[in-house]
Amino acid sequence: MAKWISRMLGSAVLPEKQADNHQINEIDLSRLPQHVAIIMDGNGRWAQKRGLPRSVGHRAGVESLRTAVKVCTNIGIKYLTVYAFSTENWKRPKEEVDTLMNLLVEYLEKEVAELNQQGVQIRAYGDLAGLPLAAQQALTRSINLTAKNNKLVLGLCLNYGGRAEIVQAVNQIAAEVKAGKIDPGSIDEEVIEKFLYTRDIPDPDLLIRPAGELRISNYLLWQLAYTEFWLTDVLWPDFREEHFLQAIVDYQKRERRFGGLL
Ligand code: IPE
Ligand code: IPE
Ligand code: MG
Repeated sequence: MAKWISRMLGSAVLPEKQADNHQINEIDLSRLPQHVAIIMDGNGRWAQKRGLPRSVGHRAGVESLRTAVKVCTNIGIKYLTVYAFSTENWKRPKEEVDTLMNLLVEYLEKEVAELNQQGVQIRAYGDLAGLPLAAQQALTRSINLTAKNNKLVLGLCLNYGGRAEIVQAVNQIAAEVKAGKIDPGSIDEEVIEKFLYTRDIPDPDLLIRPAGELRISNYLLWQLAYTEFWLTDVLWPDFREEHFLQAIVDYQKRERRFGGLL
């Protein structure tokens, strides 16, 4: 089994660099993280280090996303949620924001057929109405086309902020209370979760943050309550299958206690 996976990963994911057999053999496929979340960070620095415009870094980052999706579908991770554009990223120069939005449309248009074939279901989490129309339309098309797939749920966090997500949940709950549909005394964690963007998926087991920052940057504030963190200085465009597999190997060595005792 491990050999078979090794062959698949080696050829399908990273033709230029074979997966390390040791890493794959070290992974216990019966204890994979069900849900991995990634903060795709470091694109700008990757480009600047090479004297290139930041847009080149963002484009290179798309390749790493492609690799991450393949690792998930190959080894059997069920949910991958990636931070692609935060509610704070609007502060960047218009030119960079435009590049990111155009790349999103290009990624969806170019990749959706293959993602669909791979059994990937595309979702988007965030204030989508705030995105440019072309991005909204490309998302709607991709989400509808892939809605029935169940091999991997790929969540794209776009115009996403953890605080904004909680605020919109509170607003919806307040409206339901006002309409007499929710008894205020019944509001508990389960009720709040029903109004989050991620309402029907499990919390992430593993969060990967490349590019060396030691912060959460307003990502999945509610959902990360007991998630294991894996941080690396590697910049997102340099993030390869071997890094992803190492994160899983390390994750499997952790003791998750959820506040209790083992
Ligand atoms: C991540 O890379 C992409 C987005 C935030 C949209 P950055 O653009 O943040 O890259 P750095 O952190 O400046 O290197
Ligand atoms: C987080 O990265 C947002 C995304 C990767 C989309 P940032 O680059 O925006 O985070 P900060 O500003 O370094 O905290
Ligand atoms: Mg950054």
